[in-house]
Amino acid sequence: MKVAVVGVTGVVGEMILKVLDERRVAIDELDAYASRERAPLLFRGQSRPIRAATPQTLRDGRYDAVFFASSDDASEELAPHALAGGAAIIDNSATFRLDPDVPLVVPEVNADAVAAHHRIFPVANCTAIVLCVGVAPIARVAGLRSLRVATYQAVSGAGRAGLDALEAEERRAWGGAENGSATPFVAPIFRNVIPQVGTLDERGDSGEEKKVAAETRKMLALPALHVAVTTVRVPVRFAHSEAVFIETERDTSVAELAGSFASAAGIAFHREGVVTPRDVEGQDLVHVARLRAEGDSKRHFQAWVVGDQVRKGAATNGVQILELLIQRGHVGGRAARVNGD
Ligand SMILES: NC(=O)c1ccc[n+]([C@@H]2O[C@H](COP(=O)([O-])OP(=O)(O)OC[C@H]3O[C@@H](n4cnc5c(N)ncnc54)[C@H](OP(=O)(O)O)[C@@H]3O)[C@@H](O)[C@H]2O)c1
Repeated sequence: MKVAVVGVTGVVGEMILKVLDERRVAIDELDAYASRERAPLLFRGQSRPIRAATPQTLRDGRYDAVFFASSDDASEELAPHALAGGAAIIDNSATFRLDPDVPLVVPEVNADAVAAHHRIFPVANCTAIVLCVGVAPIARVAGLRSLRVATYQAVSGAGRAGLDALEAEERRAWGGAENGSATPFVAPIFRNVIPQVGTLDERGDSGEEKKVAAETRKMLALPALHVAVTTVRVPVRFAHSEAVFIETERDTSVAELAGSFASAAGIAFHREGVVTPRDVEGQDLVHVARLRAEGDSKRHFQAWVVGDQVRKGAATNGVQILELLIQRGHVGGRAARVNGD
């Protein structure tokens, strides 16, 4: 199978290569792209050049699958060419997510949304993926009427520039050298929290808040679900945390919901104690903790949901989609993993 990754010098692209390798996905040939040529990288011990992605390279590459981990603009411009070359597109940008003809797949939640004719697979917003994995078991046992969410989002959600900005502010605070890196944030992030992720619209909602609401409804296949979100950036390097306030359709209990988490794919459920972003960094599981009812309510609950957004919220979810396509014979010739297991 021939695969390309566009955006390999970024936070998500780099992680896609790592996860493809860790999960031993059966790739015969891997091509690496960024916005411009760079020194080669190593993939499975082999040197791979990093080339500039162009419409022609992506079309002529005749890939089985192309991962996009670049930007909305790059996906919009380049994905149609990779598609024309015969590739399935696994795209981390927002470009295709709300297209009604395109599935928005989180394999633990809605793998059945994939049909043989689909060729474009957006990876949903990272905050929305963590939320959906965390609440899907509740939706299954008791239905969902509304979700209210406050987020605590890692700086790596803003890519390499977000990590660099926090590091530069930390260095400055400890008296180190200025490195002059531009910040992607609207306020200092060191020793601070910023209640704005993305651009605010005329109503005052941020881009991230609108993505979380719309994409959550689509992934859960609940178009009428009420979703209210406030997204906040915090000085954490990796993993997004979410305080989630849940209203169910039917009466239920903490015991029943706890039972639903215990058997759910992709979730680590904590009956006691807390879990922090530092605990889950580098993992693919979404962690759910502090599940409790609001007073005596049988329909109102609260939970704390945490997941590494670069892994499960982006790279791993994309690689899982590729694995699903391979398993179903929708891409590539070989369903086996390398080394035969
Ligand atoms: N970070 C997260 O937690 C996260 C989570 C979910 C989804 N996403 C999405 O994933 C994508 C990548 O995000 P990121 O955080 O990894 O960003 P990043 O660290 O800023 O990396 C961006 C990558 O895209 C490349 N790129 C930019 N424009 C390009 C172009 N025209 N052609 C080819 N490559 C281009 C960059 O290459 P150069 O080095 O050459 O500039 C770099 O490799 C974005 O769409 C983002 O919204 C990010």
